[in-house]
Amino acid sequence: MVFGPPPWRLVATCTRGLEEVLAGELRELGAGDVAPGAGSVSFAGDLAAVHEANVRLRTGMRVLVTLVRGRTPGRKGLYALASRVPWEDLIPPGSTFAVETVGKAPGLEHSGFAALVVKDAVADRIRGRRGARPDVDRRNPDLRVHVHLGRHGTSISLDSTGEPLSRRGYRHHGGAAPLAETLAAGLLLLAGYDGGAPFADPLCGSGTLVAEAALIASRTAPGLRRSFAFERWPFHDPAVLDDVRHRAALDRREPPRPIRGADRSRRAVATAGENLRRAGMHRWVELAVADVREMAPLEPGTLVVTNPPYGERLGETTGLEGFYRELGDALKRRAAGCTAWLLVGNRELAGAIGLRASRRIRLFNGPIECRFLRFDLYEGSRRHGEGGDTGVGE
Ligand SMILES: C[S@@+](CC[C@H](N)C(=O)[O-])C[C@H]1O[C@@H](n2cnc3c(N)ncnc32)[C@H](O)[C@@H]1O
Repeated sequence: MVFGPPPWRLVATCTRGLEEVLAGELRELGAGDVAPGAGSVSFAGDLAAVHEANVRLRTGMRVLVTLVRGRTPGRKGLYALASRVPWEDLIPPGSTFAVETVGKAPGLEHSGFAALVVKDAVADRIRGRRGARPDVDRRNPDLRVHVHLGRHGTSISLDSTGEPLSRRGYRHHGGAAPLAETLAAGLLLLAGYDGGAPFADPLCGSGTLVAEAALIASRTAPGLRRSFAFERWPFHDPAVLDDVRHRAALDRREPPRPIRGADRSRRAVATAGENLRRAGMHRWVELAVADVREMAPLEPGTLVVTNPPYGERLGETTGLEGFYRELGDALKRRAAGCTAWLLVGNRELAGAIGLRASRRIRLFNGPIECRFLRFDLYEGSRRHGEGGDTGVGE
């Protein structure tokens, strides 16, 4: 095997703030040497582990198989490092490849330049052995080479995933400000959701949180139906993938507790319905057109996870403080005995909720730094003053 005998050094990437959740998922899959980093988690495993991670991870974005690591002073160092990989075994005659670079290293500040250096090393090595250079196909390559440049060294990996794992394939019509599927799943796992409690998102938009909740509650692996970059590797064995998918499918169950989504926008609810249908989750989720300020009281013990409009993201700034205050009131009155988690991208708005947060987690929704706030809604939760004590500045 071109990667050497397993276990190999594998890396799953993720949104910043979800490293511990991803590490927990990997440990549950039985991965060894799980070590969270910044925006990624490294682990040890074999080819089946690569398949399993791609099919089952909820918060991972891509799974990389490390080919070589080292210090790469400038162009020469990077070229020498890339030349050590037996590319001729990875790119058979007639196959194409592409190089993607992230990060920076001294002398390699431009990712386009670093990609060019690695591309030359790959092509020169293959030409030296075969007499012909392989073709580059940036859009649809057979082999995706991933280069991570950092101050402490460079790693060159194969991207086993291709289209990021956030693209589950069920969301064709995004709403006004949809969450990435991996972030939505991460929020639910951070909130401790496992399907065992009733779930509600009263501001469900295009339905990402309810879809991910239904996937978790029904123990459906998010990658059961999609394809992966590793299927085009020269040594790909479809039987390994079939086996991983088959075993993942056996875990499925009917969600034990209700999952509900609502939005005041009729259009958003229609989009959520279409997305749930595509995800195969529509049977498990009840949707309604409703204003959160008038929602029916929730069953005590319900877990609410939601992301209210931010202002910045939807281009609305005025009137939102009032809305957040009313949202806090609605939760207090209509969700007594429940736990609510809100993803909030704006400190002033978070203060307007007027409830004390019992936990605050720093997360990124794309480029927006957010706080994921937990509110324990005991009977008669007390309001705090204007700009209340949510502690989002901490
Ligand atoms: C940031 S978006 C939620 C996005 C959603 N998580 C997704 O992934 O598509 C906020 C949603 O709140 C809804 N909304 C705003 N005010 C509302 C209200 N008073 N009652 C119910 N829904 C409301 C908007 O229609 C919008 O769909």
